[in-house]
Amino acid sequence: MAKSVSASPAKPRILIISSSLNPASHSRVLCRAAEETLRERGVPVEFIDLAQNPIPVYNDFDGHDPGPAVASLRAAAERAQGFLLGIPVYIFGTPSPLKAAVEFIGKRFEGKVVGGLAAAGGTRSYMSVMDVAKSLQLDFRCLWVPRYAYGTHDQFADGRIQNDELLARVRETALQTAALAARLATPVLWADEPAR
Ligand SMILES: Cc1cc2nc3c(=O)[nH]c(=O)nc-3n(C[C@H](O)[C@H](O)[C@H](O)COP(=O)(O)O)c2cc1C
Repeated sequence: MAKSVSASPAKPRILIISSSLNPASHSRVLCRAAEETLRERGVPVEFIDLAQNPIPVYNDFDGHDPGPAVASLRAAAERAQGFLLGIPVYIFGTPSPLKAAVEFIGKRFEGKVVGGLAAAGGTRSYMSVMDVAKSLQLDFRCLWVPRYAYGTHDQFADGRIQNDELLARVRETALQTAALAARLATPVLWADEPAR
């Protein structure tokens, strides 16, 4: 059945996945700030914290059940039109829990929008998120949001973002992810086509 065409797209459901297992995680702080921004605008958000819902390394072979945490991650991913990934930078790349989450979610990312919220020790690992961005774009044809947030240790204190520019970037990343997800889920009616 054809989808209806609308100039004002419906609000998309965004799934935020916080992938750090550190109780004092900075990327989780970024994820919570993004969640707050989206909730303020009435955007439906689901939040999965892999520290609270641990998943195994990829083991979904020959009917093996990867367990309830993976089942709920997959169900939330299925419902989502867009994703925000909390990314702790590990060894110029992304950590194993996030890699496992991407592997388990798999085709549920297909054609959807993904934004990044990264935390690192210093400024030199800025491009480290590109390995997950590249995988998502190549394997699942995701649209990676070019604006992403990257915070370093000195920009956090007492479990809060202490830098206005970083906070603005988090908000912009969250809102651009939602806006792009909404647009991508809405069929286009070109100006020279009759209204349907
Ligand atoms: C195993 C490991 C590898 C790391 N590798 C890097 C790195 O390559 N570049 C960097 O800037 N910080 C690196 N860090 C520092 C983390 O990115 C930093 O602690 C960040 O806050 C982690 O995110 P989280 O606070 O959300 O856990 C590393 C930390 C660990 C534990």
